Amino acid sequence: MATLLDAVGDILHDRAATPTPPSWSEERGWTAFLRGLDDATLEVCEARGPEHVLADRADAPPSLRALAEEARSVAALRALAPATGAAVAKASPKKRDQIEALAALAPRGARRVVDFGAGRGHLTRRLAAELGVDAVGFERREAVVRAARAIAPDPRVAFEARELDADVDVDGGDLLVGLHACGALGDLLIEAAATTGAAVLLVPCCPQKIPGEVRAPLSAAGRELSREVLGLANLAHATEAGTSVREAARRRLARHGLRLLLAEAGVETRPGEESLGINRKQFRRSLAEVAARGFGARGLPLPTEDAIRRAEARAAEEQALMRRFALPRTMLARPLEMAVVLDRAAALEAGRGPAPEVLVAFPASVSPRNLVIRRACDQGR
Ligand SMILES: C[S@@+](CC[C@H](N)C(=O)[O-])C[C@H]1O[C@@H](n2cnc3c(N)ncnc32)[C@H](O)[C@@H]1O
Repeated sequence: MATLLDAVGDILHDRAATPTPPSWSEERGWTAFLRGLDDATLEVCEARGPEHVLADRADAPPSLRALAEEARSVAALRALAPATGAAVAKASPKKRDQIEALAALAPRGARRVVDFGAGRGHLTRRLAAELGVDAVGFERREAVVRAARAIAPDPRVAFEARELDADVDVDGGDLLVGLHACGALGDLLIEAAATTGAAVLLVPCCPQKIPGEVRAPLSAAGRELSREVLGLANLAHATEAGTSVREAARRRLARHGLRLLLAEAGVETRPGEESLGINRKQFRRSLAEVAARGFGARGLPLPTEDAIRRAEARAAEEQALMRRFALPRTMLARPLEMAVVLDRAAALEAGRGPAPEVLVAFPASVSPRNLVIRRACDQGR
C-alpha cells in the first residue's frame, strides 16, 4: 500500500480544484481521456467510485486502468459480519447495525472493555453485556457523558468525562475499543495497545482530525501524510453518503460559483474555505442565496445580479472539467484509508501482544468508514 501511495504522491497532493488539467494528468497522458468522459459515465463514477468503472474501460490509458484495478482490488474487501440490528436503547438503526457487527467480532477473554471516544455509550454497554465484563467509556464532551450515564444505567458500565491522552491507564488484560474513533484518538488507542499488549477492536474514521498539520506514521511501514491529504481518506461516494450524484454536483457547483464570486471581490479561498457562514445543506440553494450568506458572513457588499449570472455560467463550464479531473484522485480514497489502517496494524504487530487482522466490519451502506482492526486477547499474558 505504501508503494502505491509513493507512486501517486503527486495526485494526492493536487486535488484538481481548477479547470486546468493537473500536471499529473498531463504527464501521464490521461487528460484527453478524462475530458472525453460522457456525463452518464461521470455520474456512475461519482456514485460508485471511479475505480469500478475505469478498471473495465478498454479505451482508458493503460496506466489509469492499472491504477483503477489496484484501487478496485483494495475496495473489493467485503463485510464479514452480519448486521442483525438487535435492540440497543436509543441508538439509530445504522448505529445499531454497527454495534451488532462489532459485538459479533469482539475478541473474547478480556477482563475489561475500555471505550475510546464512547459518545453516548451504545457500544460500551453492548460489549459489557456481550462479554460479561466491566466496561468504562471515556468521552471528552461532558454533556454527552451525562447522556450516556442516563441511558439504561448498568452497574458494570462507567462513563468518564475525560480528554484521553498518552497517559491513559490500560493494561494487557483490557480490550480497547473505538467505534469511529477519529484521527488522533485512533492512534492513541493503537499506541496504548502496542505498549501493553491489550486486545483491540477499532473502527477508525476522520484520519484528518489531528492536532498538527502532519500525521507521523506509527510503524516502519507507514508514511508521513498531511492533514489535507488525509481528508481524502474520509470520502464517501454519493451512494454511500445517501445523496444523489446530481445533488452532490449541484452543491459543488454552488461552492465553486461562490469561490469565483469571492475571487472577483478580491477574496481568494482554498477549496472548503468558501463555506464560512454556510452549512452543507444551504449549498443546495441558488447561487444568489448562497452568495448572500457567504458575502454577508464576510461583511462584503453583495455581488450584482449580472455578476452572479456570469459566475453561474463560468462555474458550470469549469465544474464539468473539474469533476472529470477529480476522478483519479477519488480512486485513491480507499487505498489511503487502508494505508493508515495498515500502518496501525503494523504498529500493533511490532509491539506487544498477538498479531492483528483487518476486516470490513459492516457494509458501506451502514457506514463507509467500515474497516476494523481486531486483535485477540493475549493468552500468554
Ligand atoms: C465520531 S464520535 C463516535 C462516538 C461513539 N463511539 C459512537 O460510535 O457513537 C467520536 C467521539 O470521540 C470523542 N473524542 C475524540 N477525541 C477524544 C479524546 N481525545 N478523548 C475522549 N474523547 C474523544 C468525541 O467527543 C466523540 O464523541
